[in-house]
Amino acid sequence: MTTTPADTWGLHESQFWLRGKQPEKRVEFAAELGMWNVYGHPEIEEILRDPATYSSDTTRLVPKELMPEADLETLSAGNLLQLDPPLHNKMRKLVSRAFTPKVVADLEPRIAAITHEMLDAVSTPGRLELVADLAYPLPVIVIAELLGVPPGDRYLFKGWVDKMFESSEQLSLVKKDEKQDEAIKKSLAGQQALRDYLGGHVDERRERPREDLLTKLVEAEVDGERLSRDEVVNFANILLLAGHITTTMLLGNSVLCLDTHPEWDERVRADRSLVPPMIEESLRYLTPFAAVARTTVREVELGGATVPADQLLMVWVAAANRDERVFAEPDRFDPLRDPNPHLAFGRGIHFCIGAPLARLEGRVALNILFDRYPALRTIQGEPPKFQVNPNMTGVRELPLTTE
Ligand code: HEM
Repeated sequence: MTTTPADTWGLHESQFWLRGKQPEKRVEFAAELGMWNVYGHPEIEEILRDPATYSSDTTRLVPKELMPEADLETLSAGNLLQLDPPLHNKMRKLVSRAFTPKVVADLEPRIAAITHEMLDAVSTPGRLELVADLAYPLPVIVIAELLGVPPGDRYLFKGWVDKMFESSEQLSLVKKDEKQDEAIKKSLAGQQALRDYLGGHVDERRERPREDLLTKLVEAEVDGERLSRDEVVNFANILLLAGHITTTMLLGNSVLCLDTHPEWDERVRADRSLVPPMIEESLRYLTPFAAVARTTVREVELGGATVPADQLLMVWVAAANRDERVFAEPDRFDPLRDPNPHLAFGRGIHFCIGAPLARLEGRVALNILFDRYPALRTIQGEPPKFQVNPNMTGVRELPLTTE
């Protein structure tokens, strides 16, 4: 049996699906967290396709005492991820105009140029730290340039974003302890710093419009009304955040999948038409965003369980991506899997708006890596490091030898 990356590198204990295990129940109440876990593929599709029953507005269920300092309304205004219809449709239309297929496709030469520039700057011959050298800066520079904020400020954002995802504990709605309070405080401080930074840029665009996405958002109108400052800031905030960590993980995880499966490394290098399906399989096999959240607006039957109204659901798309009812031999890494209905980008109205960009960045960067280096192998004694947040699966540091 092939050793899984989870066994080899000790990935997060709670992510049982990475260790060849199916869940005992597809829908279960986690009493210690005060929320539900959903692990099954059909059950998750049911949730994601029914926003009238399963709302994305999770803030309404967060007890005030859990985040006493947070003004949740200000934080969630304009946050696409937390909006329900009809407001969601309006806001989504707005961003979709900025993320047209043409805007994304036109970025291809720029993505290639940044990738070469980053790799040219690597100082140690025969070695790469894939994340710091390429997988982190590339998507951040691309999204910063689109938004119109200086890509050189990425060292600032990184500090703030890292603060948001530092906690290795699952958030509990019922348990009150100092460790959790501290983690929430840190995360909110990171968010606030990023919002203040973006707020400054938004104010500047109001004074002096430019040819960038921030200006488009400032000038955009929904039903004849401009977006509020909070809405523009939060919107830019999720684009910057989403543009950050997820594509970084996608690149790192894909290289790691090929390191673990050298036979596929050889095949994909020899036949580049396999790069896109390999990326899809990597998204299924090591799903960067392991969970999304929803809340029930009424009592509902789901996967044989009765879930009362006003419950928080952790929707584990990463576990669904190993559901043996949908994927034959779910623990086998097989880029030729067809169809591959993975849920790594979600489903339904909140389907990832950045998916075409993430796929393009993945394809361009991986092809250039294969062209430039005869090998990309992990190094004995220098194992990769992973995100510690239990809702994520992805490398944080990936030292490689390239010879
Ligand atoms: C939504 C994953 C890259 C922007 C989502 C959702 C998932 C996801 C699972 C659905 C959330 C839900 O249903 O609650 C990923 C992964 C990525 C990636 C795995 C990379 C491999 C990006 C990029 C951007 C982006 C590069 C933007 C630059 C967004 C936005 C939404 C979203 C704005 C909210 C859409 C909505 O609520 O209508 N993403 N994402 N994502 N993603 Fe991504």
